[in-house]
Amino acid sequence: MELGFVSKDSSWWVFTLPAFLGTKTLFDDGFVVVSLFIASMLVALLTWAFSVGGVAWKNGRNQRGSVSIPGPHGLPFFGSLFSLSCGLAHRTLASMATSQAATQLMAFSLGSTPVVVSSDPHTAREILTCPHFADRPIKQSAKMLMFSRAIGFAPNGTYWRLLRRIASSHLFAPKRIAAHEAGRQIDCTIMLKHIAKEQSSYGTVGLRKHLQDAALNNIMGCVFGKRYDVAHDSKELNELRDMVREGFELLGAFNWSDHLPWLSYFYDPFHINERCAALVPRVRKLVQRIIEEHKNRGSNKMLSDNADFVDVLLSLSGEENLEENDMIAILWEMIFRGTDTTALLTEWVMAELVLNPNIQAKLQKELDRVVGNKSITDADIANLPYLQAVVKETLRVHPPGPLLSWSRYSTSDMQLSNGMLIPANTTAMVNMWAITHDSNVWSEPLLFKPERFLESDGGVNMDVRGNDLRLAPFGAGRRVCPGKNLGLVTVNLWVAKLVQNFKWTPNQEKLIDLSEVLKLSCEMLNPFSSVVVPRNSSSIV
Ligand code: HEM
Repeated sequence: MELGFVSKDSSWWVFTLPAFLGTKTLFDDGFVVVSLFIASMLVALLTWAFSVGGVAWKNGRNQRGSVSIPGPHGLPFFGSLFSLSCGLAHRTLASMATSQAATQLMAFSLGSTPVVVSSDPHTAREILTCPHFADRPIKQSAKMLMFSRAIGFAPNGTYWRLLRRIASSHLFAPKRIAAHEAGRQIDCTIMLKHIAKEQSSYGTVGLRKHLQDAALNNIMGCVFGKRYDVAHDSKELNELRDMVREGFELLGAFNWSDHLPWLSYFYDPFHINERCAALVPRVRKLVQRIIEEHKNRGSNKMLSDNADFVDVLLSLSGEENLEENDMIAILWEMIFRGTDTTALLTEWVMAELVLNPNIQAKLQKELDRVVGNKSITDADIANLPYLQAVVKETLRVHPPGPLLSWSRYSTSDMQLSNGMLIPANTTAMVNMWAITHDSNVWSEPLLFKPERFLESDGGVNMDVRGNDLRLAPFGAGRRVCPGKNLGLVTVNLWVAKLVQNFKWTPNQEKLIDLSEVLKLSCEMLNPFSSVVVPRNSSSIV
């Protein structure tokens, strides 16, 4: 039965409220607009005030497990956007997690995006290896740059699984990586010659540009079967460098609209949309031309072990056959991922070796003892444990992706063993930098000490390819980096040859500065410069 004094018309207050407030209707004097604005502000403030983790964690989203996920409130509407949009996000997040006693897992908001970050090896393993976290959130720029069809951003499903299968059994198969050794050697020899020339002309060497050229050529060789001669192909090479740099900037830029979608209608300070729209046709034209060249050569019919990625993709048949647009996205992504990471990791290694002359001397001793004057090959690396330890220690102190570069996205609720529950549609990050700098995980974490990876010195010979989350710079689980072996083999070989051929000493005019800048990867803020003394010039030529 309906009670007589309860009005069925819920808008009655619109007409009665003004009587109390002394106006004729609510529509006078912009009253409605102002009161709606105030009301929504109040609701937002209350929501924010009661949401641990910030506004994106409203309605007790962080309390669905038997243990709730702690986290900072951040600011109303924006959450922790301002703290993380500039500076070194891995360091900011590490100190936030410590101050919130939330190293296992911390909830925070990036605008309307609910995010969790783990700074603990155990929780990190559970997240990265969980099938519910096999997706990635896709940034607007990545979508516009065609990356949703490439391995890194393709949603977990049949297409992505096909790409991973192609990657493991064709592109990064051990025999293919081995067959590309000749290319790695050529690129390194050219780099060594340029270094020697720069030293004799200017008295110092800026290593970064040599590494970038070698890395770009190396990946171009693997992917497109094409190498550039800096002197002769400079126009095309410059165009390519420019496209890669533009893509890095666009993908690495912190885009506020990714987290505040309404902002994109009137605020795009970096002109991300315009720039992506301008870059895509340039990329498409270049990659399409290279695919055409391969088709005209008809080389895919006789696929050899050292075939490049274009040949491999063109040779696929049946259910592995890919459309041209998908091939463009996959090939372009490889150029992107493979260039920057190997160059900047090698630069960090060499900077640490200049800063630690005793470690450099110990490495030179190992190289002299095991390989002497002969040209180092991939096969020698297995017999150079100190070299491997130096590279691992650099990955620990300077992980190129301190937040593992690309986040993960949950498609279902995930129950953690500590009682916390991460709801579906949450973005997850792993703060690898925080783990590798945690004194509960690593003794003397700030010290550069490769011996910690040598069993002969009481250390642990750890595999860094995703099996042990105390040091997993390539991620882990189903979305672990498929280029990890190629990356490692390249960096180990190049460091060995740089150290075998030169003694690297400080440039007293420009001392090494280990400050970081976080772009798509974490690199040295100031490229380092060194004075090099040739040790073994015979193997350079
Ligand atoms: C030092 C070198 C490298 C480092 C430190 C590195 C690091 C990473 C990391 C942290 C991830 C995310 C993994 C995860 O979510 O668990 C990743 C993904 C990926 N990397 Fe690498 N990477 C390196 C070299 C390369 C190379 C040389 C290539 C290819 C040429 C490559 C291709 C990829 C691709 C395609 C993905 C996406 C995988 C997926 O989502 O399924 N990476 N990498």
